[in-house]
Amino acid sequence: MCGIVAYIGHREAYPILIKGLSRLEYRGYDSAGVALINGSLNIYKKKGKVADLENETAGKNVSGKLGMGHTRWATHGEPNDANSHPHLSQSGDVAIIHNGIIENYATLKEELGNRGHEFKSDTDTEVLVHLIEDVQQNTGCELEEAVRLALHEVVGAYAIVIISKNDPAKLIGARKGSPLVVGIGDGEYFMASDASPIIEYTKNVTYLNDGEMAFIKNGELTVKTIDNVVQTPYIQTLEMNLEAIEKGGYEHFMLKEIHEQPKSIYDSLRGRFNPQTGSFAMRSLKEYEGKIKNLNRIIIVGCGTSWHAGLVGEYLFEEISRIPVEVEYASEFRYRNPVVGEDDLVIAISQSGETADTLAAIELAKEKGATIFGLCNVVGSSIPRASHAGAYTHAGPEIGVASTKAFTAQVSILTLLAFGFAELRGKATKQDLRNAFAELESMPAKVEKTLQCEEKVKQLAEWIKDANNVLYLGRGYGFPVALEGALKLKEISYIHAEGYPAAEMKHGPIALIDENMPVIVVATKNSIYEKVISNIQEVKARKGKIIAIVTEGDDKVKKMADHVIEVPETSEFLVPLIATIPLQLLSYYVAVSRGCNVDQPRNLAKSVTVE
Ligand code: G6P
Repeated sequence: MCGIVAYIGHREAYPILIKGLSRLEYRGYDSAGVALINGSLNIYKKKGKVADLENETAGKNVSGKLGMGHTRWATHGEPNDANSHPHLSQSGDVAIIHNGIIENYATLKEELGNRGHEFKSDTDTEVLVHLIEDVQQNTGCELEEAVRLALHEVVGAYAIVIISKNDPAKLIGARKGSPLVVGIGDGEYFMASDASPIIEYTKNVTYLNDGEMAFIKNGELTVKTIDNVVQTPYIQTLEMNLEAIEKGGYEHFMLKEIHEQPKSIYDSLRGRFNPQTGSFAMRSLKEYEGKIKNLNRIIIVGCGTSWHAGLVGEYLFEEISRIPVEVEYASEFRYRNPVVGEDDLVIAISQSGETADTLAAIELAKEKGATIFGLCNVVGSSIPRASHAGAYTHAGPEIGVASTKAFTAQVSILTLLAFGFAELRGKATKQDLRNAFAELESMPAKVEKTLQCEEKVKQLAEWIKDANNVLYLGRGYGFPVALEGALKLKEISYIHAEGYPAAEMKHGPIALIDENMPVIVVATKNSIYEKVISNIQEVKARKGKIIAIVTEGDDKVKKMADHVIEVPETSEFLVPLIATIPLQLLSYYVAVSRGCNVDQPRNLAKSVTVE
């Protein structure tokens, strides 16, 4: 939530900030703002998108080689101009941008108010910049020291950047709970919520750890803890390239990312298994092999689409590795005093690696002695760093707010893990692994073939676009697919949709079915295919309209359904990788034909760093 970017160096900051904000807009788009220092401190901020901010600044003085920008996802205070970042101190000399929540802001605000501070917004952030200036005035210390001291009084999560009119050669940042990466160029530095605003200029970055601050003073970078211990920053060279974060000819990032799935699935699996030998290799798990053999239970935590991938994981690990699994919403798990112990493995799934609830769930499980395996997409993010072991999904940057390629990459790795664990625990032979891996290896080509349904899906979208409700049904591996299909439609087209286990329909949702209700059924050939057919009949009997996802060549369902979308045949446990694709495309084309903002759906953000 909220994107931040800052620059100090020899170039004009404004174009860097605007471009950076556009790349970070997936993190929030309630408002945008910039602050620039060029003798004076100039602030421009506006409710709405980065494009609205650009209109606001047209013809104004945006010069300055020190500056910072913010794109907001509102927490404290409604989205309006006054609550937009940057915020100013009492004197108006110091400016701040912030991602996160200052939990004790009300107390701090009252104390500062009693000392004569006046606030112009309803935000927690403004309180922090007032506090920083207050500390500096009371102690007479340097700005970076005032930031450090002020942070000691703060409870909550933050990534912040501070600049001051009185310190035009200083850029100060700090993080706790929200990400902040520092880019190191040639005589120039960047700070940002992720590397996307930076990589065009430098690939050398350092990710701040929790409780660290960084400041650039007279061209030199210093990193220290907020307890004042100087750190040697670990500078890494990123492999990310610019094309990966641009649309590459597609109208939307979401469509590009849907089409990238043959490659992203391939990349997620590359080098991790060998179908000829049936061997499975994940270096990070080597030292935990003994633990995996004796595991009591796997607990999977995640949110949103990642939670759906976790559900697929449950089916995989229980069926293939014969390990008991629980799948938990991270937000529930963290507050319900769960029973977790040393013999449990907690798999935390997160595209961004920054989701606040998932991070908190990890911390809780760690305290209780569990081993944590992080399955994340964003390299260097907080969850991998808080985990004992893990794997990156290597799906490449996912910019569309609705997750697509990250989901299929997560499921690919969970499939691999299920077989790897099964072998370790004596539940699968080398031949089982060879067969499964050969099938897994064919997935990129099968997903490519599945994408050929696009034209058909586009036509069906015209029919769905006027619906008020859509029901998605599936059984077995088709059930998480139904949930994910419904979530995609809700997220980007704002049509109410529900995913349900097909057989549970008769205990409630069947009451909703009439001739106006589209029902989308995952009806691929599998061990409970006939059961799903019975569920389709139940819908038909109530005049529901059916779109069925079927295995190519299927005649039976074709006769019953109003429309079918054919997908290539595959093993049952791989159905989620295939059957999800048409549902992603369907929600995309429905949203486009309803005129919705596909990549930036209302009220949502890609990276939810607040609880
Ligand atoms: C937000 C995003 C979803 C995502 C969820 C979990 O709600 O809009 O697309 O599935 O967060 O995010 P994570 O980064 O932890 O997978």
